[in-house]
Amino acid sequence: MKFTAMLGVSPMLLLLASVVNGYYLNDLSEYANCRAEPNTTSAVVKQFKAGEYIDIKCQVSGERVFDYAIWDKTQDNCYLTDYYVDTGVSNNYVTKNCLYQGSNPGRVRDDYRYKNQCDEVDPWNYYICQCVSFVAQRINERQGIYFTNRYKGNAWGNANTWVEAAKNSTGVIVNTTPRKGCIAQHSRSKLGHVAWVHSVNHRRKTVTIEQYNVIPHKYSMETVAWDAFDYYIHLDSKH
Ligand SMILES: *[C@@H]1O[C@H](CO)[C@@H](O)[C@H](O)[C@H]1NC(C)=O
Ligand SMILES: *[C@@H]1O[C@H](CO)[C@@H](O)[C@H](O)[C@H]1NC(C)=O
Repeated sequence: MKFTAMLGVSPMLLLLASVVNGYYLNDLSEYANCRAEPNTTSAVVKQFKAGEYIDIKCQVSGERVFDYAIWDKTQDNCYLTDYYVDTGVSNNYVTKNCLYQGSNPGRVRDDYRYKNQCDEVDPWNYYICQCVSFVAQRINERQGIYFTNRYKGNAWGNANTWVEAAKNSTGVIVNTTPRKGCIAQHSRSKLGHVAWVHSVNHRRKTVTIEQYNVIPHKYSMETVAWDAFDYYIHLDSKH
């Protein structure tokens, strides 16, 4: 009896599952351009009308549009700025990041996407080619967390204020024990430094980190003692 009832329900559940990332275009504009890339200079692939239903496949960070840095990739494989989509939230992804492959910490490689635009401002409101911008990209793409320099309402600012901002942020843990996919921080230099922890050797008490701007404006990786950093910031307390 129970089994039969479950069978009766399952087609409906399947239907619900297929529309779970459906949203409507808001009416801030008559039309919204869906573009080839998540920025306003790339080609318009399709136009959606106000009120039209949008099926979001995944989301990425891109050019800021009226302070919204999130772009929604639709089923048509084009990008709409989230400014025009009624997802109900403005400061978080409502579905997975298109570049997130569940691979925290992911591969060691210089895949920083803004390396040719040093000193401009990235989607997360950091200066491009600085350590903070690189780590912001890692958090967004390797953890699927929408991290900006206003994460959880706090002013993360330069690397030397990340620990204070982290301590002010609910659910964020600050300690001296690294784990893969956490943030390493020290305040030895004037503006401090942050790096992405790729792996941890517990026996030797070393961390392998990836970072930007230790070599000016460039990527580097190194293996150093745990205490080469003052703190480790864990954004995802489940991790
Ligand atoms: C727009 O995105 C494309 C692809 O990512 C990139 O080549 C181009 O430089 C971007 N334009 C700007 C202004 O960021
Ligand atoms: C942390 O919170 C304190 C107390 O509210 C505040 O004075 C300080 O500016 C905050 N700092 C950061 C970086 O969020």
